[in-house]
Amino acid sequence: MTYLLALDQGTSSSRSIVFDADGRTVAMAQREFRQIYPQPGWVEHDPEDLWQTQLATAREALAKAGITAAQVKAIGITNQRETTVVWNRRTGVPIHNAIVWQDRRGEPLCAQLRAQGHAETIRQSTGLVVDAYFSATKIRWILDHAPGAHIAAAHGDLAFGTVDSWLLWKLTGGRVHATDVSNAARTMLFDIRHNVWDHELLKLLHVPDSLLPAVHPSSHVFGETDVALLGASIPVAGMAGDQQSALFGQACFSAGLAKNTYGTGCFMLMHTGAQFRASQNGLITTAAAQPDTTPGYALEGSVFIGGAVVQWLRDGLRAISSSSEVQGLAESVPDAGGVLFVPAFTGLGAPYWDTNARGTITGLTRGSTVAHIARAALESIAFQSAALLQAMSRDAVAGGGTPVAELRVDGGACVNNLLMQFQADLLGIPVVRPQVTETTALGAAYLAGLATGVYKSLDELSALWQVERRFHPTLPRERAEALMADWAHAVRQASAA
Ligand code: G3P
Repeated sequence: MTYLLALDQGTSSSRSIVFDADGRTVAMAQREFRQIYPQPGWVEHDPEDLWQTQLATAREALAKAGITAAQVKAIGITNQRETTVVWNRRTGVPIHNAIVWQDRRGEPLCAQLRAQGHAETIRQSTGLVVDAYFSATKIRWILDHAPGAHIAAAHGDLAFGTVDSWLLWKLTGGRVHATDVSNAARTMLFDIRHNVWDHELLKLLHVPDSLLPAVHPSSHVFGETDVALLGASIPVAGMAGDQQSALFGQACFSAGLAKNTYGTGCFMLMHTGAQFRASQNGLITTAAAQPDTTPGYALEGSVFIGGAVVQWLRDGLRAISSSSEVQGLAESVPDAGGVLFVPAFTGLGAPYWDTNARGTITGLTRGSTVAHIARAALESIAFQSAALLQAMSRDAVAGGGTPVAELRVDGGACVNNLLMQFQADLLGIPVVRPQVTETTALGAAYLAGLATGVYKSLDELSALWQVERRFHPTLPRERAEALMADWAHAVRQASAA
């Protein structure tokens, strides 16, 4: 039997999954870790917590699978993206907590970059909109605020990494400092057209290039684990940011194939092939997980409040006592009764980009009940995702391609059949749920398996991807279009709120 171990280091927990060569889950372990909120808008993680929880789950997953490290052919790492760690190369000790992707402290510097007219240059090179979400301004902040950082950087003693790099460094006992293209693409310092660090941007942000990891394709033997950690030395042979890894795990390898991950937020990515394409519709361009040196790109959009709207029903509105009650409550009414809920609690992301928008519920009547609000809350996840997919299809058509033909889904909320059916109804295309919905970890395992000869080709991986259920649209298109028009109207009200 051949086994692959995927390390999935996420925002709220570290998980490890053992897969067999057919992509079936053999064992899984998960541990949460501390979230640190030093002040409003700031979010940090202790890099040591990330590492220790990840290592503990790797050991636990192997034990649960009843296998030893010697039976694992390769490790794949996938991770929360953009989150920034800077450590001292000599001591291996981080000089500051990791600054998490959600952290907004880089915004003043971003505003300055925009005011100085750098936005278009940055977009042309990195594919990104200038935003504190990405790593660049987080690195700058650490260099400016951690004691002694400037001197250490000048001596070449500091290393920067996204979480994949940090884990790789720890796994290899400090021998390897590297990342993959899909993670480098999230730093706002990487030229995704040529797959090299952008020296102009490094100068602009005053980031010395001595800090930077080497960049490789996502499927590559990055290094070997220290034997003392897991009991044998295992090649780390795949690395990709979690959303690109999920795209890969969903076997979306060519232009027009798209996936949506339904988590706390939603992340939708569409592969666009080997051509860099800037969005005309408010999306970002990013490097897809790249199995070799051939470039591959994706358009990406995210919904800030996806499943989190259900948490608000529970903790804010107290309409339900546990999240699992939402489907029953929503199904107790035939539809939302004209109620629309725009959960713009933290503004609206792509394709709207309105930081000032606020949550809004419209269409309330004397007959409205909490069940209608619950149904509207669930439907808001589908409405926001549909707006993203429409933007992607417009970009695809503008680039000479065809509209997206089906949407592959994964993430916690994709088990909700009501939501998936409504999603298909709004989109007018099938929504397809695969048998293995752990696609983020699976993508990393596949990348590792490709680099170590477990798989010979992408076709072999496509054949392993199996459908569990296909949700076909049943709503007449005119009705779906009227609903999307109502949604657009409600979004305008949220923007004015
Ligand atoms: O870009 C942020 C994303 O990678 C975070 O994913 O699943 O850890 O919330 P997750």
